Amino acid sequence: MTTDDKAPDSASPDATSTAGMVEQVTRMVMPGARTHNASRKETRSGTDGKRSVMESSLAPRNHTLPVPNGWYAAVCTADLDGGDIISFTAVDRALVAFRDEDGTARIFDAHCPHLGAHLGGGRIVGQTIKCPYHGWHFGSDGKCVEIPYCDTKIPSKARVRSYVVDEKDGFIYFWYHAGDKVPTYELPRIPEANDAEWTEAHEWRTDIVAALQEMAENNVDYAHLRFVHRREAVPGDSSVFTSEGPFAKVVETLSDGMKFTRHTYGPGIAVLRIPDMMTLLATTTPIDRGTCRLRWHFFFPQAMAGMAEELIEGVTGTYGLQADVPIWRDKVYWEKPVLVKGDGDIIGFRRWYSQFYEDADA
Ligand code: FES
Ligand SMILES: [Fe+2]
Repeated sequence: MTTDDKAPDSASPDATSTAGMVEQVTRMVMPGARTHNASRKETRSGTDGKRSVMESSLAPRNHTLPVPNGWYAAVCTADLDGGDIISFTAVDRALVAFRDEDGTARIFDAHCPHLGAHLGGGRIVGQTIKCPYHGWHFGSDGKCVEIPYCDTKIPSKARVRSYVVDEKDGFIYFWYHAGDKVPTYELPRIPEANDAEWTEAHEWRTDIVAALQEMAENNVDYAHLRFVHRREAVPGDSSVFTSEGPFAKVVETLSDGMKFTRHTYGPGIAVLRIPDMMTLLATTTPIDRGTCRLRWHFFFPQAMAGMAEELIEGVTGTYGLQADVPIWRDKVYWEKPVLVKGDGDIIGFRRWYSQFYEDADA
């Protein structure tokens, strides 16, 4: 069995649990971050040195929003070789990823329908995955095709849940729907990922304590840009959120006239383009209701390759994504927030987003 959490968790014995790994990564990106076990944490703000004390019992974690339906990145193409079985948690479920003998990627629920063994400890045999406990074989669609010690008919319930998979532009994606419905939209193509005039993908990954919807809502929350990201002005009219079906778009015009566009494809995938400078394929996968795994692939025109690290730091660093991390970690979700003029189209965003909760448990 291998895990897909190579960078952040390899040093810690505690990293075998998702919670341990998330905590560890959160502490890496936010030194001094609150942990579940800490009863009291003190921090000082960078600019004025003011003391901030947080008693952990006063900060409920945000687990109220369900896991939305949609396409999500499971693992990166480069991480899954033939013969590997990657075990991971996503959409609040234990899952495995592997390739059939012909190379086709598969995502299954991890636990065997027989007596519940974890298939991550099994083996790939031809077009099947073989359970480590009693040797049952499951085919590409999750149906059991062989029980080595039983010659009667294989029960129809002997099947493991399999997911619709699509592999493109560096990611293996799977479709999750709480009511098991078929995909309702297609994944985007990223021409930059296969263009010699663009760099290879620069990969950036981390895990964050946040509900997926809260992270996405940030993109229309223009008022926070000034206070969290230290942008000089609230963009207001210079940013526009529009949507069509499962797709949404934010176009922002910066003060120097430069535009950037963020296309969103359901809850798990976004493509941000700043012309002639950068394309970001951002995949965000809910591990569970309260934590997300981010795997972001940055592409740059070859002429901008020397700026890559700086640009990535700008998006993900102290005044970029990292500035949002403690807010998401400690906030709660208000169904009926008190909103004012200048807040951005939070209501429009939430109306659009509600479509992804079909059949979800509240
Ligand atoms: S638990 Fe998988 S074959 Fe028995
Ligand atoms: Fe933000």
